[in-house]
Amino acid sequence: MSAPLILQGVTAGYHGKAIVHNVSLEVPAGGALTVIGPNGSGKSTLLKSVVGLVSLMAGGMRLGEREIGRLDAPARTRLGLAYVPQERNVFPNLSVADNLRLGWETLHGRGGARESARRDEVLALFPEIADRLATPAGLLSGGQRQMAAMASALMQGPSLLVLDEPSAGLSPRNASLLFDRIADIRATGITLLMIEQNVQLGLRVADHGVVLVNGEIRLRASADHLVHHADLPALFFGHAPALSS
Ligand SMILES: Nc1ncnc2c1ncn2[C@@H]1O[C@H](COP(=O)(O)OP(=O)(O)OP(=O)(O)O)[C@@H](O)[C@H]1O
Ligand SMILES: [Mg+2]
Repeated sequence: MSAPLILQGVTAGYHGKAIVHNVSLEVPAGGALTVIGPNGSGKSTLLKSVVGLVSLMAGGMRLGEREIGRLDAPARTRLGLAYVPQERNVFPNLSVADNLRLGWETLHGRGGARESARRDEVLALFPEIADRLATPAGLLSGGQRQMAAMASALMQGPSLLVLDEPSAGLSPRNASLLFDRIADIRATGITLLMIEQNVQLGLRVADHGVVLVNGEIRLRASADHLVHHADLPALFFGHAPALSS
């Protein structure tokens, strides 16, 4: 089950000050798009506007057939949007099993056979946490904790999964492992919108990427093309002065 996401002219920010300016983008059903860009460029703000945690100042967005830009976050969740924030994305004192249960209960109420079936499907995607169900999520490794957070979001059975910097704080090896799992999630047909600081990894599982700088999309291309794009360094680091000897 998946749905397309379409943003048209999205402007959003805080306390009346726009951080994201006139962003339009489209993720087809079952597609994956990665937002990259320098620190502070508005990537998380853009994702929060999709999730319903930051209000739109202008523009609109659709998930499937539904206009969602003015709905609150719980209403978007009910329409099939699941979000894994950059930080504080698990209940650290609760076991992995309880985190997954809460993911289910967000939408479906108290358990039953459907919850068990869903849990089996989700855990099949994450063998690394399948044998850690009794462990408090806060005691998992960083990579396992991200997997628990994603697994909990997937318990909702979303049509769109929104991930904010899943590899933040992970070693290169663990980040790469995590992105193998994200590729597996993708293969289930779900639509994916993510932010990733690691450009190579983030574009590895995406069809398309956009570069956000100062809240504006400055470059958009297929993932294969963008990863080697000659303009990337300048967009990330500005025009560094030439070194003189
Ligand atoms: N709750 C808030 N209230 C006011 N300003 C905020 C708030 N959250 C973020 N900002 C500001 O919005 C701008 C963009 O922040 P945002 O977190 O969206 O950037 P980002 O691209 O996700 O950065 P990073 O790569 O560091 O995660 C920053 O100038 C930040 O200070
Ligand atoms: Mg961010």
